[in-house]
Amino acid sequence: MPVDDTFAPLEWIGSAASGRLRLLDQRELPHAERWIDCRAPEDVASAIRDMAVRGAPAIGLAAAYGLVLAARGSGTDAAARIDAAERLLASTRPTAVNLAWALRQVAARARSNPEPNALLDLARELHAEDVAGNRRIAELGAARIESGMGILTHCNAGALATGGLGTAIGVIAVAHQQGKRIHVFADETRPRLQGARLTAWELSRRGIPHTLICDSTAATLMARGRIQFAVTGADRIAANGDTANKIGTYALAIAAHHHGLPFHVAAPASTFDLSLEDGSGIPVEERGEEEITSWGDGRTCPPQTRAYNPAFDVTPAALIHSIFTDRGEIKPVDRDSVSRTIGLKP
Ligand code: MRU
Repeated sequence: MPVDDTFAPLEWIGSAASGRLRLLDQRELPHAERWIDCRAPEDVASAIRDMAVRGAPAIGLAAAYGLVLAARGSGTDAAARIDAAERLLASTRPTAVNLAWALRQVAARARSNPEPNALLDLARELHAEDVAGNRRIAELGAARIESGMGILTHCNAGALATGGLGTAIGVIAVAHQQGKRIHVFADETRPRLQGARLTAWELSRRGIPHTLICDSTAATLMARGRIQFAVTGADRIAANGDTANKIGTYALAIAAHHHGLPFHVAAPASTFDLSLEDGSGIPVEERGEEEITSWGDGRTCPPQTRAYNPAFDVTPAALIHSIFTDRGEIKPVDRDSVSRTIGLKP
């Protein structure tokens, strides 16, 4: 499949007045490709909370379309409906800042023009910007990849997690298309297995050679010289470059540092939160214990055993070799370099 042929896991179908947001239900992958139709902001909120759609840029875009659905509802006035939907959608998942970023932009447009058509135009613009931004990130990152490299990635930062090609997987996909001989090691990504279920599915569809590993295998592969490059996505990046991403990312960055290997992040400008001085202020989502205590239909531990399930961790900027963004590469990763590339504190 050509590298620019995206899976489009979210798509607005029809007019602003009567259309719907169609989402590929990522909980069902890789076993089934089922689609969900969202016709009200509550449908979008449930899809984000239950992770039918996930990945920082993708939930931002879904929420933007969710406000279009709110604008065309009936009952109270449009401004009140949009306000309520903005609060509901913002409350679904706390860590990825792209969600608040997209909601803020569409809600601001709604204050001057709450017509569903105007909001749909903006949601589509944000979507198109994400597609173009993904492409820039991918080309920048792919230039750093050499033939023969083993590449490690964690969670899923591909087309399923964005509006376009993906961020970390976009980098990998473009390197592959450029004819570079690469091999990807995909962490399975406990506890929800985004690596096994989603990244392996995307890499298979793109024909990119890959091997699935347990998260805990990465350091051993580094020690054996099988990995030369690590790249992940991000959910929120503070002004000094500290980066929140899927739980386990921090451990990978430490392992890469120990082995003298470059650990990269790939993310659009919408993932930066310049209001936060550093990563200590990033809210980390904590999910249910059952994601850890159960496997399939059965419990994996004694009934009285409790589990702790933070969904993200924060990797200190000092462990990140560079960040590929749609505005250029941030290197070294520090406050000055972030501010030069992304902008000033709002
Ligand atoms: O809990 P998820 O699946 O939404 O977590 C996703 C990630 O951590 C991704 O790496 C991140 O959102 C970047 S997606 C381009």
